[in-house]
Amino acid sequence: NKKISIAIDGPAAAGKSTVAKIIAEKLSYIYIDTGAMYRALTYKAIHLDLDLENEDSLIETLQHTTIDLKPSQRGQLVYIDGRDITEEIRESDVTNSVSIVAKHRKVREEMVKRQKSFATHGGVVMDGRDIGTHVLPHAEVKIFLLASVEERAQRRHDENIGKGYESDLVKLKKEIAARDKLDSEREVAPLRKAEDAYEIDTTSLTIQEVVSKIMDIVKERI
Ligand code: C5P
Repeated sequence: NKKISIAIDGPAAAGKSTVAKIIAEKLSYIYIDTGAMYRALTYKAIHLDLDLENEDSLIETLQHTTIDLKPSQRGQLVYIDGRDITEEIRESDVTNSVSIVAKHRKVREEMVKRQKSFATHGGVVMDGRDIGTHVLPHAEVKIFLLASVEERAQRRHDENIGKGYESDLVKLKKEIAARDKLDSEREVAPLRKAEDAYEIDTTSLTIQEVVSKIMDIVKERI
């Protein structure tokens, strides 16, 4: 079988990482969560008390920062400068600031460079906002996952409750909508469906149904 590249884009909390992980596992491909890279930089910037509007200080920091994504039994682990920050990057201070950090051109250029280097040999499932449009424009399979903001907030809420975290559905919905707006309206590589991407509305689909739709597309290309 040919080793291909699979790009999965879409708005916040549309289930990208859940399905991307399952597909990577089925194909024995590597899974790369590009959002985790922007989150890792955001985490470090918050802790260094940087001005998140200051592109130069962010890129200066990024150039001296290593971000590693490592597969493990309990999903993908995220390391910054050798330290495990898998849990920390999901906290709301990071989630609600990451779109500010991710809007800067120089930050994106450096992240895209790193992301492309992970995919040079194919056999990769990458999820994000600009994978099909900028990071892997020649990916053999491009998927754009959608779901209503109500559905996405509800899923994230259920996930939080399941993990025993506090969760406020109304607040979640507002935060998701705000992040989508920033990600879609930014100047550099905004959230967009690539022209040749398959759009899948997951609102009334189960995870398994989404996975099997994508696998049908993948099987035609490998
Ligand atoms: O995918 P996740 O929700 O973890 O992404 C966090 C944020 O990182 C997004 O809201 C977006 O601002 C940014 N991002 C991006 N480009 C990507 C992946 C994520 O701008 N390819």
